[in-house]
Amino acid sequence: MGKIISIAIPKGGVGKTTTAVNLSLAMAKKGYEVLLVDVDPSGQCAASFKLNNYKNGSIFDVFSSTKKIEDVIYDSGYDNLSCIPMRKSSYNDEVRLLILAEKVMNLRYALSTLLVKFDFIIIDCPPSLTGTTTNILNASNSVLIPIRATKYSMDELGRILNHVKLINKTSNANLKIEGIVLTIDEPKTKISHKIKKELILKYPNLIFKTSIPKTIKVQEASFDNQPVLVYDPQSSCAKAYLKLADELILRNELRGIFFE
Ligand SMILES: Nc1ncnc2c1ncn2[C@@H]1O[C@H](COP(=O)(O)OP(=O)(O)O)[C@@H](O)[C@H]1O
Ligand SMILES: [Mg+2]
Repeated sequence: MGKIISIAIPKGGVGKTTTAVNLSLAMAKKGYEVLLVDVDPSGQCAASFKLNNYKNGSIFDVFSSTKKIEDVIYDSGYDNLSCIPMRKSSYNDEVRLLILAEKVMNLRYALSTLLVKFDFIIIDCPPSLTGTTTNILNASNSVLIPIRATKYSMDELGRILNHVKLINKTSNANLKIEGIVLTIDEPKTKISHKIKKELILKYPNLIFKTSIPKTIKVQEASFDNQPVLVYDPQSSCAKAYLKLADELILRNELRGIFFE
């Protein structure tokens, strides 16, 4: 059976989407069957796979109960990697999505039906805690938290960790923290050292050893609608995502979580 990992923190611009796309592809390259699900109304995951015509619908239609989840799975163009896109949403769509996400708990069921087919289902969350993100966390086995080395990110980290505790008490006792990964990192700066030190001290079992360095290659890759792993496989960032995938897989093997 596979595992559902959501990528979440209630903050934008921290590398959630970049991590969701490149980590998914890194795991697929290692031979795992991966499904990337975009549940952020800004709908940016699919752009990396040059998917822009979702004629069979998107995750939005699954939330609205007008499509079955298996009907909105698209080929990413890369081996072992499939993608469920989110259609680019208008303001009205976003409001509707929030209402649907608060009301229906169908995502957990819908995704669980896919776990026989996929080793990993990776979900890119919106930069919020309530509504859609809570619905996604209820459907997940774990949450991977990307943060940047800033004071505000540490505050947001506290918020999501508290939110996971609340969800553990109320609606999903099995939700675990997959880990915390430092993204868009500038390892030579004082603030990066300080934050890493604080993270290791406070969360020694949660912080990933691998951090993702800041590089212009990521921006160039997104301009070209490609994952950085494809745009420049030799870049520091591409190598870091492959290392992160190794670390994540090893952690899961050590915990004996999968596979059957
Ligand atoms: N490792 C990195 N180095 C440089 N820029 C990055 C890196 N990761 C992400 N970015 C850039 O930072 C911005 C925010 O990243 P994104 O993944 O969209 O964050 P989020 O999904 O949390 O809003 C984007 O412009 C992206 O290209
Ligand atoms: Mg995003």
